Amino acid sequence: MELITKAPKGTIDLTPAQTAKWQQAERALAEEARLNGFAEVRTPAFEHTELFQRGMGDVTDVVEKQMYTFLDKAGRSVTLRPEGTAGAVRAMLENGLYNGGYPVKLYYNIPCYRYEKPQAGRLREFRTFGVEVFGAAEPAADAQLIAMALSAFQRMGLQDVGLQLNSIGCPACRKEYHQALKAYFSSHSESLCQTCLSRLERNPMRILDCKNPDCQKLAADAPKISDYLCPDCQAHFAQVQACLDALGISYQLDSGLVRGLDYYTRTVFEFPSESLGFALGGGGRYDGLVEEMGGSPTPALGFGLGMDRIMLALEKQGVPFAQPEKPEVYIAAMGGQAQAKALALTDRLHKCGIAADCDICGRGLKAQMKYAGKTGAKYSMVLGEDELAKGKASIKNMASGETGEIGIEDSFVDDYLTYSTQQDDLKF
Ligand code: HAM
Repeated sequence: MELITKAPKGTIDLTPAQTAKWQQAERALAEEARLNGFAEVRTPAFEHTELFQRGMGDVTDVVEKQMYTFLDKAGRSVTLRPEGTAGAVRAMLENGLYNGGYPVKLYYNIPCYRYEKPQAGRLREFRTFGVEVFGAAEPAADAQLIAMALSAFQRMGLQDVGLQLNSIGCPACRKEYHQALKAYFSSHSESLCQTCLSRLERNPMRILDCKNPDCQKLAADAPKISDYLCPDCQAHFAQVQACLDALGISYQLDSGLVRGLDYYTRTVFEFPSESLGFALGGGGRYDGLVEEMGGSPTPALGFGLGMDRIMLALEKQGVPFAQPEKPEVYIAAMGGQAQAKALALTDRLHKCGIAADCDICGRGLKAQMKYAGKTGAKYSMVLGEDELAKGKASIKNMASGETGEIGIEDSFVDDYLTYSTQQDDLKF
């Protein structure tokens, strides 16, 4: 029975009380995206498995251990998306979005799936707000993107978000770095976990983000990529910092920050939350990925914000949320004819953009009025035989108790608007 009464491990329900809060945060993010010229892209929740293996790198924790991969009924291997970047790149190429000219700026707000050990801020189904910019090589693009993320945090009301910054160079400077890492970890191979031993040859940089405590201890003293950057990557990183300085954005340089996905080049960053103790989001440049996926060489960059973590941080910091929307008017009815009339009147109000409700549960008048009070409606009306005969009904301001009378035939919406405007004016 538990299988049908409990959501799968690592997944959560968002109840109406929560979705009202989520929508507030999502509106702030969508507004930030609009201000920065981003348009929304919606891609499938599952893709060909090869897309993620190729995109994120097959020697990464996500691809090696965390993907929800299965064969469909035709025997094709498909994977529930563990992140948004690979799908966005595929969609950009497949739909020729570059034909409209660069930069292409896309955003998405999507559920992602990773088979992880669930804990605070770590779920198996989690939601990501992400943005991707294609065709922008300038360091100014990196700084603009970081400024946008920080401004989005502010817009949502978050105070304690930091910025950690690093450059992990390009494939040219990383060749020498990989050799240095290999030499270092080989000389301590007895302390490496099995997974990292297998990474030693194939992708030594991924040892740096292993969660095993022994590997982490070794990683702390490993050679730093910052000592191996080529002159071009050094100049790019210096200019990113100059742009951030010009924007008045403070940051912490963290030469140990490499991110857990293979596609990153040059600038990488994370946004740690001081109160939660983990990152709310992260991102960086991925100048080689579009070509890797079959497109022309195209510089690109982006970030992903963990919405579940952002909501935890908003709650923890006590950021106020707007009250859930209430119906403006509740129309109670006695008898079948009055009920049909109440239905028609609420429908007319809806068509004018006014939130209104009436009984659909067969309650008596007293219970309807109690329900109207519970919904928090500003005004209530009662319709019965008399009101139908007169073509008029009383309307009550639920807070002040003041009553008025309005027509319920042709003049209904006009009368309602006149009454409600008068009531609003009375407040001042
Ligand atoms: P990521 O750092 O793997 O990057 O994920 C982005 C954010 O998603 C994380 O900082 C975290 O807040 C949230 N997140 C990740 N895994 C979980 C989880 N299991 N439960 C809850 N939240 C989680 C990416 O995915 C890149 N695609 C970001 C990017 C976009 N880079 C360039 N463009």
